[in-house]
Amino acid sequence: MEILNDLPDEQFLDLDAFLSILSIYEDRTRTRRLQRHLRTMIQPDWVVVEAGAGLGHMTAYLAKRVKRVYAVEENALACRYLHYRFGNHPRVRVICSTIESWVPPEPVDLLFQELYGPLLYDESLGALERLQFKPRRVFPDGGALEVGLLDSRTLNDPVVKPDLVPLLNGALVADLVPGARFRPIGRVCTWHWPQGLHCQEVNLSGHPGDLVVFRLVVLHEGQVICRAEECPNWPLVFTYRAGDRFRLNFTYRDAYSRVELEWR
Ligand SMILES: C[S@@+](CC[C@H](N)C(=O)[O-])C[C@H]1O[C@@H](n2cnc3c(N)ncnc32)[C@H](O)[C@@H]1O
Repeated sequence: MEILNDLPDEQFLDLDAFLSILSIYEDRTRTRRLQRHLRTMIQPDWVVVEAGAGLGHMTAYLAKRVKRVYAVEENALACRYLHYRFGNHPRVRVICSTIESWVPPEPVDLLFQELYGPLLYDESLGALERLQFKPRRVFPDGGALEVGLLDSRTLNDPVVKPDLVPLLNGALVADLVPGARFRPIGRVCTWHWPQGLHCQEVNLSGHPGDLVVFRLVVLHEGQVICRAEECPNWPLVFTYRAGDRFRLNFTYRDAYSRVELEWR
């Protein structure tokens, strides 16, 4: 979805982010897997905080099964929608705020979050290291960013030809070759709550290929919940191989992380 007319900057940014929230719900695999895991863990007397409630589909699921749900959402339009949807709900409190600047009025049994970006930490996971409260549990509590290599000569893609790939130098491009098959050669970063993010320099020497591929894996207690593409909400990410060693650096600002690709 794309906004095609000029709008004031603030309205554009809010609406653009809101439209990207809508597209999440096309990924039924993601929602099904999250619900399947939640079902096995939640208890009827729990207080649950949903960090980033979006349109409230998971909020509604949780509200049928626990004592109280705090649906915390920073996007103004999504939050307006949550108010329409849950305004009079006896078990849901809608909170229009970033999760990191809000303090719950009671102890929290579970924080449910889905703040993963296609590069693991490039959206809002960083918020969870900045919480002003300590939930008893977080679900999901982990993730990893895998890396692999492809040889563009073997892709047989009608558009992404080998002489086009170097033009991507320095850019991290989502969805360049949907469905690309590759074997991961390692992990660039891992994230675990409450410890946070750990990234390392990657050494590609000895591995052939001119196209670097990144794949997100969402984990809970070490078990895979979703992999990018298998859950289409998260695309694979590609870049041109500009050397043998690189790292990804993330900086957190205004509720989101920015990512920088550094070749060495
Ligand atoms: C991927 S959506 C998940 C929506 C919902 N939890 C679900 O699973 O269906 C992430 C949501 O988190 C919100 N969000 C992102 N960063 C946030 C933050 N720091 N505090 C509160 N909400 C945030 C986004 O606006 C978006 O609605």
